[in-house]
This record gives sequence, C-alpha cells and structure tokens, in this order.
Amino acid sequence: MTGQVKKAIIPAAGLGTRFLPMTKSSPKEMLPIVDKPVIQFVIEEAVESGIEDILIVTGRGKRALEDHFDYAPGLEAHLRRQGKVEQAEQVRAIGARANILFVRQKEQLGLGDAVRHGRRFVGDEPFALLLGDTIIDPGHPQGLHGLQELQQVYQRHGASVVAVRRVDAQMVARYGIVDGRPVEGEHLYSLERLVEKPEPEEAPTDLAIAGRYIFTPQIFDCIDRCAAGKDGEIQLTDAMNLLAAQQPLQALLWQARRYDIGNKADYVRCFLDFALRHPDTREAVRACLRDMDADQA
Ligand code: UTP
Repeated sequence: MTGQVKKAIIPAAGLGTRFLPMTKSSPKEMLPIVDKPVIQFVIEEAVESGIEDILIVTGRGKRALEDHFDYAPGLEAHLRRQGKVEQAEQVRAIGARANILFVRQKEQLGLGDAVRHGRRFVGDEPFALLLGDTIIDPGHPQGLHGLQELQQVYQRHGASVVAVRRVDAQMVARYGIVDGRPVEGEHLYSLERLVEKPEPEEAPTDLAIAGRYIFTPQIFDCIDRCAAGKDGEIQLTDAMNLLAAQQPLQALLWQARRYDIGNKADYVRCFLDFALRHPDTREAVRACLRDMDADQA
C-alpha cells in the first residue's frame, strides 16, 4: 500500500467573473457560508484528510485570504477583554491547523498554470489538489469527507485519481467531463480521455470533475507541454489527457454534493443547506422558508 499524501495545492487566484460585481474587490473564496468563509471549509477538509502542508495560490486583490489564516492580536485582545475567551481561541486556531504557505499567480493564465506554481513546493511527491472555490458536503452516507475518499483510493492503487459526480446532460458544458472504463467492483473508472466544458451533444459521459484530485508529480511535466487551450487558458484537463496517455489515471465516482461557489445558484444553495444545519440559524431559516412558501401558495 502507498502512504498518505501530505501536501496539497489550493488554487484560489481566479478572477471569479461569474460572480461580479462582488469579486471586483473581494475574493469569492472569502464568501461566507453562514459564519465561515469558503476557503476555511476547504482547509478543514484537507486537514481532516491527513494533509499537513498547504500551498494556496492567490492573486491580486486576494490579501484577505492571507489575513484570514494569520494571527489577529488586536481582535484576540479585544475578545479576551470582553471575557469571550472561547471566541478568542477559535480565532487563533484558524491558521494553526496546518502549515499554510502562499504564492501569487501574477497573471490569470488558467487552472493548469495555477497548479504549476506549486511545483517547487511539491517536489517529487504525490500531492492533493483542492479547488479553493469548491465545497464538498461533509454529509456523506459512509462518513468519509471529500478528499478522505480519494486518499483511500490512492493508498490502494498508487495512481493519480480525480473525483467525479454525475450531472444533468444540460450541465456538462460547465465542467470537465471524463470518459473511461469501469474498474470492476469499485466506484472507479480507468480514465481514457477528458473533455473540457463540452457541448451536451459532444460529451462522452455525464461524469463531471468535482474539484478534488490526487496527482503524481508527473502532472507538472504534462502541464509544461500544454499550450493555451479553451478560453485561451492553460487547461488542467489538457495536462490530464497527457498524463492518462503515459500512466494510470482513475476517477472515483462519489455521491457527495459538490458546491461550485463561483456559480451564484450553487452558492445560494450551499448557504441555505449549511444555514439549515447551523444551530444559530436553523430555526429562523426554517421559519423564513415556511413563510416564503405560504406567501407563494
Ligand atoms: P474557475 O474556472 O472557477 O475560474 O476556476 P475563475 O476565474 O475563478 O472564475 P470565473 O469562471 O471567471 O467565474 C476554478 C479554480 O481555479 C482557480 C480558481 O480560483 C478556482 O479555484 N484558478 C483559475 C486560478 O487559481 N487561476 C486561474 O488562472 C484560473
């Protein structure tokens, strides 16, 4: 069996144009889900999955991301003066759960390029990749959360693996879509081909990449061989096609809900789902939804 992957890259440098005007001055990764920013959910998932070292790829206008994981002595002192010791400790603990580093992507040349910024950090090891604008619902029936599932598959097979979900046919144009052969007895596919954001009639399957990956370091050479593709960006899916041609690349079909926060409707859904579970908001939000329902009746 292969060991656990300990390093993760979290790309969070995208311009977030689908969420303008909000993203003109604030990163989408700092959007709140009730009382926590999106990026904190991603870091927590990584840490719960055995990740110890994290590199966040940021860009212009994303300083709030660094501040969120830094100490805040003024705020902590203020909370302690008010006797809010628990809150002060919560605030301090945010950045302490993993070793978090930052690197800037100076030009937004695409996800493939953002990943390339992690090459020196990763060195010659396998690594996890978690999109900074994607939350995986922890409410999984088997109790494994997001990247934990990929870690298990990686430990069994020792090959690069990407999480996929089934999507409605009309949604395929929003995602990277994979094609491959089922691996017997598991929710796994051996990947042969990936297509970035295909039109529904060109999509080989309805299996969409869900924002979580584990790669062997050979992916970096594959990225280097890619020219700008769809939308003028260095596409990670192009590099994954090259990787699949030279070594095994698998896809794990998982059931967990994926929230693409860069998409407004997904963000609203995510906020509502979590607000309906949060003890501080659950009752009020339920009452609010009941009222809205009654108004419409
Ligand atoms: P998206 O495809 O959501 O692109 O990126 P985007 O630019 O952030 O948003 P839109 O499409 O303009 O609304 C997927 C992930 O890749 C990161 C994003 O931050 C997000 O986590 N990314 C994308 C980068 O880090 N750099 C890039 O150049 C592009």
